[in-house]
Amino acid sequence: MPVGKVGPLDWQQQLDLGFELIDAQSVGSLAACIVEPILSSGGILEPPVGYLAALQQKCRERGMLLILDEAQTGLCRTGDWYALQRDGVVPDILTLSKTLGAGFPLAAVITTAEIESAAHDRDFLFFTTHVSDPLVAAVGNTVLDVLTRDHLDEQAAKLGAYLRAGLEELAGRHPVIADIRGRGLLLGVELGGPEADQLGAAVTRRCLELGLHMNIVQLPGMGGVFRIAPPLTATEEELSLGLEILDQALDRPR
Ligand SMILES: Cc1ncc(COP(=O)(O)O)c(C=O)c1O
Repeated sequence: MPVGKVGPLDWQQQLDLGFELIDAQSVGSLAACIVEPILSSGGILEPPVGYLAALQQKCRERGMLLILDEAQTGLCRTGDWYALQRDGVVPDILTLSKTLGAGFPLAAVITTAEIESAAHDRDFLFFTTHVSDPLVAAVGNTVLDVLTRDHLDEQAAKLGAYLRAGLEELAGRHPVIADIRGRGLLLGVELGGPEADQLGAAVTRRCLELGLHMNIVQLPGMGGVFRIAPPLTATEEELSLGLEILDQALDRPR
């Protein structure tokens, strides 16, 4: 059952328990906690509202930094510029990738001047061949301009609602669809039943034959969860075509 549906006491208790276990194994100098605001490759799992704020509180109590990894969720994908906006939590460090480079290998680490200078004072090093590469930086700046100019946050919210409605319609006709979740244009479709892993693989194969690349969670036991993250610039016609193909594949997987 998705975490968000079990009630506030349960997740708070689980968070408390998790930190009790961490504290029991720590010498007391924990550096940071890094999380995705929506677990993407883990099966499109959304923490309940309040979870990230409670996690930040746990971090503060221990002098730890909170790092939010928005490589997948950031830059308009969820219908907001950042998924963290739903929770109103400002992390100490934010990481971005994927959308930022529009296909180019570009990632960013965003933090405060204070943390940056503490890292510098402690001689922390980070370098790669392409660090501060002006070409990909120019691409990244253009991506930010286009996201702003074309209001792709609003577009992702609108297309996400369209896609979700289509998936819900499919779920009405395919009882094997057990859950639809996610936000904006980052949606998860979970297949139910004991054969979900094999069925997920068979539906993925059939979709590919029909011209649709589907991304399925690769974790054992979670192989029946599709991760759907179409381009932010997709059209309703393209989403409809994807839904039609998924419909056919669910009818006759192989
Ligand atoms: C959640 C998340 N964080 C970080 C990364 C790593 O991104 P990159 O290799 O672009 O830095 C990925 C890549 O799949 C990811 O999905």
